[in-house]
Amino acid sequence: MNIAGAPDKLTCSTIVIFGASGDLTRRKLVPSLFNLYRKDRLPANTQIVGFARRPLSDDVFRARMRDGVKEFSGDTFATDVWDSFAPRLRYFQGDLEDPEDYRKMQLFLEQMECDQASRLYYLATAPSYYVPAVTHLGAAGMARQGEAWRNIVIEKPFGRDLASAQALNRAVHAVFDESQVYRIDHYLGKETAQNILFFRFANTIFEPVWNRRYVANVQITVAECVDVGHRAGYYEKAGVLRDMFQNHLLQLLALVAMEPAASFNAETLRNEKVKVLSAIRPVAVDDTVRAQYEGYREAPGVTPDSHIPTYAALKMHVDNWRWNGVPFYLRSGKALAQKTSEIVIEFQCPPHLMFDLAPGSDFTPNILSLCIQPDEGIHLKFETKVPDSAQETRSRDMEFHYRSSFGGQALPDAYERLLLDALRSDASLFARSDEIELAWHLIDPIIRSWETPAAPPLAAYPADSWGPREADDLLARDGFVWRQGCAGTEEGC
Ligand code: BG6
Repeated sequence: MNIAGAPDKLTCSTIVIFGASGDLTRRKLVPSLFNLYRKDRLPANTQIVGFARRPLSDDVFRARMRDGVKEFSGDTFATDVWDSFAPRLRYFQGDLEDPEDYRKMQLFLEQMECDQASRLYYLATAPSYYVPAVTHLGAAGMARQGEAWRNIVIEKPFGRDLASAQALNRAVHAVFDESQVYRIDHYLGKETAQNILFFRFANTIFEPVWNRRYVANVQITVAECVDVGHRAGYYEKAGVLRDMFQNHLLQLLALVAMEPAASFNAETLRNEKVKVLSAIRPVAVDDTVRAQYEGYREAPGVTPDSHIPTYAALKMHVDNWRWNGVPFYLRSGKALAQKTSEIVIEFQCPPHLMFDLAPGSDFTPNILSLCIQPDEGIHLKFETKVPDSAQETRSRDMEFHYRSSFGGQALPDAYERLLLDALRSDASLFARSDEIELAWHLIDPIIRSWETPAAPPLAAYPADSWGPREADDLLARDGFVWRQGCAGTEEGC
């Protein structure tokens, strides 16, 4: 029997969240499901089952989730909406490593589901449980599809290097077909990341200049003002390349650099991203900067002589006809001066300037900034004549802001979109196995090169700064500077 009314053979689905007592479930997953429900976008007859080791009743689980939703779903909490949403939440106590518990859960699910219910399994656990969970789901027959589908969402990190990612892909493919697998990268769920493709391919005026003939360089910045906080246990094993570059930054690069697909669907889009990732030249150690913020080693859980980088900057090349010779500079770090994620396309300077610019004139090439967050939008910087001057020029911005154009509530959390897509079996915004492996193929050698004598020394940068001087030098060598076209925020710094 279905809790949301009469059983509906076509639309019944169950979301099983493994790792239901963890942070992700409370902060992101259940608040996003609640918001989808509130907006009437959660498919009818969707039930949610939390799976975790602690003994909890449904009511206690619901009360915990209610607190999470109140805290993390913005201002959207409403008691009456919660009261009608809460009965969809159930709890199942189980051990991720005990095959018997999966068999018991299968019976539990069969009892609560309508006939032919589809299922979305969500691995929100520590990565060490991915293989046992997938294997036990397979052994319990829970991956088998009939009329009803079985999809599985796997959180990042997907492996910690190429070999472990390949091993994980093998273990997953032993149970699930690739078409059932949804590897999450929450950056792809951000509206502004999706808008890169709309901006490029739903307009005609940008694409003709989106190439080596007009673009001088591309810069991708994902700056965070938070430090590692309580995540040192994870971060000490990961570092910034695994944490941010292998996934988020390379995905953004792929969206900026890819060719248009013939149609918007999971396979064609991912084929194009794979082509770009395969065209990236291995990164030379001299084109890398690694750094750690001052004070990191004193943080709880960090070893006093830790060499884990909390910041990196890379220069990359996409060796194809469109991008040959255009450097792509990527940087990301923690404890920086601002939280801002942006992509800058710096265009070439005019081939000849007919103006006799006054010395000190503020001349800047055209800069297009795709502002991913926090002030989502697009800015285009262009030169303009200073009024009442003979030949003076200033850079000015043409600005588009999502919030003023579409209203303050227009931008949903990335997880809302991704959960909905996984429920609709649309994998366009999820990473395919080959994308993941290609990304590791690029990142692994950099991490290894940092363990050799040729490695650049680990630089230091003060917290709340813009990172180490070495990252400025990386661009200065080529005659460029880091550009910032979007407003960041001091929030949380
Ligand atoms: C996660 C990283 O994937 O992305 C975190 O593990 C990082 O270290 C986070 O803070 C950044 O995401 P966002 O959406 O805040 O930019």
